[in-house]
Amino acid sequence: MIHENSFGIDKKGHLTLHGVNLVELCEKYDTPLFVFDEVKLIENFNRISSAFSALYPKVMVCYSIKTNNNLAICQTLKENGAYAEVASELDIHVALRAGFGGENIIFDGPMKSKETLKTAISKQIRLINVESLTELNRVNAVAGELGVKQAIGFRINPFKEPGIFKYLSLNKLVTAAYCNLGSRFGFSIKEAYSAVQQATKLKNLKIEAIMAHPYRVSTKVLLPMMRELYRNFGVELKYLNIGGGFNPGGARFIGNNDLIKDFLRRKIGLKSKLAENRNITNIESVAKSIVNEIKQGLEDLPEPTIIVEPGRFITSASGILLTRIDHVKNAGGYKWVMVDAGTNLLPRFGAIEQRKISVANKASKQPEEEINVVGPLLYVEDFINLKTFLPKVSEGDILSISDCGAYTISRSTQFLHPRPGAVNLDSNGNVKLIRERETPEDVLYKDKTI
Ligand SMILES: Cc1ncc(COP(=O)(O)O)c(C=O)c1O
Repeated sequence: MIHENSFGIDKKGHLTLHGVNLVELCEKYDTPLFVFDEVKLIENFNRISSAFSALYPKVMVCYSIKTNNNLAICQTLKENGAYAEVASELDIHVALRAGFGGENIIFDGPMKSKETLKTAISKQIRLINVESLTELNRVNAVAGELGVKQAIGFRINPFKEPGIFKYLSLNKLVTAAYCNLGSRFGFSIKEAYSAVQQATKLKNLKIEAIMAHPYRVSTKVLLPMMRELYRNFGVELKYLNIGGGFNPGGARFIGNNDLIKDFLRRKIGLKSKLAENRNITNIESVAKSIVNEIKQGLEDLPEPTIIVEPGRFITSASGILLTRIDHVKNAGGYKWVMVDAGTNLLPRFGAIEQRKISVANKASKQPEEEINVVGPLLYVEDFINLKTFLPKVSEGDILSISDCGAYTISRSTQFLHPRPGAVNLDSNGNVKLIRERETPEDVLYKDKTI
């Protein structure tokens, strides 16, 4: 099994990316190692950007910095025309360091401290999407102190009351925390109208946007609201921000129910489906249906700029993680392949995230055995992949794990191991170190002795 696109296999049977032998790369930079394909990164950005701008004249693609906050990655995206979506003081810092000016940054997130708002407003951030009345008043106060009028949007919670479904959840708080009304994200539609009315009286604010996330549900609530605000409240919005959530495919999120279902499949002699691939979203048709919906929904309203906030779609498939097999252990009737990258580098949202794996030094070999790839951490769930078919593997082999570009570097921890380095590969096969491997002393960098 090999990766697609710019990957190849050289004479030694080694996996290459833009002609660079990935096994040799591991010898030079050690493992684990993140490798970013600059071509793929730019291609993903251009794809989502042109999918929208081919159909609509005013579009801002605001890259969600938190999905991968590596400076070089952010810088590449900036140089290729991205705007940035930030959600913390750290994100703002990264975006500014990567070269985004305040006018190219929009600020989201359910908790924006006064200090962070001061930074944002003094850096002339283009838009702050507020999520509560406390925040609304805070932005107004900080803008007043700084003597400016700040452009704001309102984040609307697009979810409906769960109705009968709320009785199906054993834990109401967890359901609310995720989405639904009553979660901490944004205003309900009802609250939003009263918040807009309050905001019209606050003299340091300009109401310019409404926003919701993820895009799948956002247009349904934002368009009627935009019409209502225009016709009945006299508010003309400059931006319609439909959030992110564009599924890049690739990594598959597997929950406990999927594991149980798969276990039962195997019990009755069916093949495991855990390692199956997810299809890549057809972003062009997604953009087409969104833009059609927006054009129709606007009716006679002036055309706003559409803001989209993709993260995973841009970065996920652009990164791979190279890891070395430490040893292979047979236990309990399973084959456990122990590698030097753990889930501290691939923190997950589901119980397991299955990614496609290739054996970089045996790239021309056919899969022949079912294995479980596990990391070096001491907790039970340190699974990289379960029930995946690979060529016969042994100690020292290099595995290449696909779709590791989003929520990996930015969410990784130093639990048990310093974090790995990262390199960028361009179309000519030039390799550039974009993050140095950490040493144990880096982990202790801010610690003090008694
Ligand atoms: C407000 C907001 N915008 C954008 C994103 C990026 O989402 P994705 O990477 O799924 O496109 C997120 C992710 O959770 C988000 O919360």
